[in-house]
Amino acid sequence: MKKTATKDLLAGMVTAMPVYSKSGQMILPVNTLLTTQQISRLEFYGITWVHIQEDAKEASNTDAPPQEEFVSYSQKVRKSREFHAFKVDYNKKTQVLTSSINDLITKNTAVDSNSLIKQVSSLYSNHLTSLSVFDMLHNMRQIDDSTFAHSINVALIARMLGEWLHLPEEDLDVLTLAGLLHDLGKCIIDDKILTKPSALTTEEFDEIKRHPVEGAKLLSSQDLDIRIKEAALMHHERCDGSGYPSGLQGSEISDFAKIISIADVYDAMTSNRCYRKGLCPFEVIATFEREGLEKYEAEYILTFLTRIIDTYMGNSVLLNNGSIGNILMINNQRLSRPLVRLTSNEYVDLGKHPELYIQAII
Ligand SMILES: [Fe+2]
Ligand SMILES: [Fe+2]
Repeated sequence: MKKTATKDLLAGMVTAMPVYSKSGQMILPVNTLLTTQQISRLEFYGITWVHIQEDAKEASNTDAPPQEEFVSYSQKVRKSREFHAFKVDYNKKTQVLTSSINDLITKNTAVDSNSLIKQVSSLYSNHLTSLSVFDMLHNMRQIDDSTFAHSINVALIARMLGEWLHLPEEDLDVLTLAGLLHDLGKCIIDDKILTKPSALTTEEFDEIKRHPVEGAKLLSSQDLDIRIKEAALMHHERCDGSGYPSGLQGSEISDFAKIISIADVYDAMTSNRCYRKGLCPFEVIATFEREGLEKYEAEYILTFLTRIIDTYMGNSVLLNNGSIGNILMINNQRLSRPLVRLTSNEYVDLGKHPELYIQAII
């Protein structure tokens, strides 16, 4: 393996490691036979160097077929007509939401809850047929990660979780709106703190911690279901009392706030932030498996984890040793460690290989 400057790359060279953009998006997988077009793409992304296999022998020794033959699940999703339609509609809905929320903050206009619910619910029901909400959101990550996009994502994920919990249809609408408005209070927090690329000081973090109370204040004069206001106020509370602003415990936290908190953490951890790239959903699921039962309502978190993991069946993944494969079977004891079939046709049971883990969905 040799580190080679992008300007010295030649068509026919083979990558020895996957190449990522600065935002963490995979541009080329390992074992890619480079074409001139791909080299220009690397230059376009500002990649300055790439790990290249040293000779043809090294390249031919590898078990995996050249990656040009491998089309990942995400690539298929991104090429699909359904995803394209979702993307166009999602961007439209983000604009509508941005202007409604700006009106609410600056002019204290009444929230038109029916119209907002209709906007997001139609996004949900018009596009999510063969592809899941997670297929869509995972692939939207590379396009938009703003606070408004986060609000739409939380609304969609919470609605999905509400369906999995068999909530009645009218409650699903209220839950969707609670997701859309949960971080409203962030609009009055200094943008410099919200987008700070380095670690926050204690004072800055205390400032961010004001957003649930500020959000609830903004919503207090609105004619909205009380559960929406509670979700804005309590979505950072945790069942073990470790949350904020009040350190509430278990039954003191409203059910909707508990559902929104799971959707919120899942979306926040998987999205790219200015100070770090998004975590792979499997890392997030592993974190939830480790500490979720104390912090979140057990029934909600267990339903979320088992159902979400199902939606990733068949997805293409990159392991930390550079190999690529598809998820074949879920391990019910260790949800974040499924059975993977590699492109070399070998099977890897991650439940039995603690040294290996899923690094990215590709
Ligand atoms: Fe929040
Ligand atoms: Fe949030």
